[in-house]
Amino acid sequence: MDHPLIAALEALLTRQSVGAKHLIEPGPDDEQLRTMADAALRAPDHAGLMPFRFALVRGAARERLAQLFAQAARDVGKSDAEALVDADRARRAPVTVAVIARIDLGHTLVPAHEQWACVGGAITNFLNAAHAQGFGGKMLSGAKVRHAAVQAAFCESGETLVGWIALGTPDRSPARAVAKPRAADVLREWT
Ligand SMILES: Cc1cc2nc3c(=O)[nH]c(=O)nc-3n(C[C@H](O)[C@H](O)[C@H](O)COP(=O)(O)O)c2cc1C
Repeated sequence: MDHPLIAALEALLTRQSVGAKHLIEPGPDDEQLRTMADAALRAPDHAGLMPFRFALVRGAARERLAQLFAQAARDVGKSDAEALVDADRARRAPVTVAVIARIDLGHTLVPAHEQWACVGGAITNFLNAAHAQGFGGKMLSGAKVRHAAVQAAFCESGETLVGWIALGTPDRSPARAVAKPRAADVLREWT
């Protein structure tokens, strides 16, 4: 495990999501966040369209996001108690990173599904880079990504709010690795 590339592979093979309720301070600092964004920019990106961007929610901005989450919850008929729970999701994680997709639907060379594949790769690389630096994170969305006020708060014209990555220090080591399907389920010979 001395070689840095072996350590990188180990990080890829051990990442698992850590929900906001298990994330504590410290969150990643500016440099660590830049490393996550640099990793996201290594996602395969046909024609270099960069079909995503990130918006950092931290410090006092978390309270604004909490209010938006509460409003979105109330607008879909959730109770005040449920709205409080939703609001708390924005307050808990030391850093929340909104993921915003910028899909060019009219692109002549790169169809939308290839651009979405890049967005997925970017999210994954971002999370792996968080994990490799000792942080926990989880990608979250929910119906609130489609709430008009929430969308308006994050997106410019033509953009899609994908969701939020909650980031912080895990409050405990994972009790056990969550089992995944076997590689043989997805890796087959084509003849
Ligand atoms: C775009 C996107 C949105 C997601 N939204 C949610 C969500 O709202 N709630 C949730 O429990 N999991 C959501 N997930 C799944 C989790 O982030 C996570 O991947 C899943 O719980 C599996 O855990 P693992 O990452 O440890 O394998 C989302 C994943 C993606 C890629």
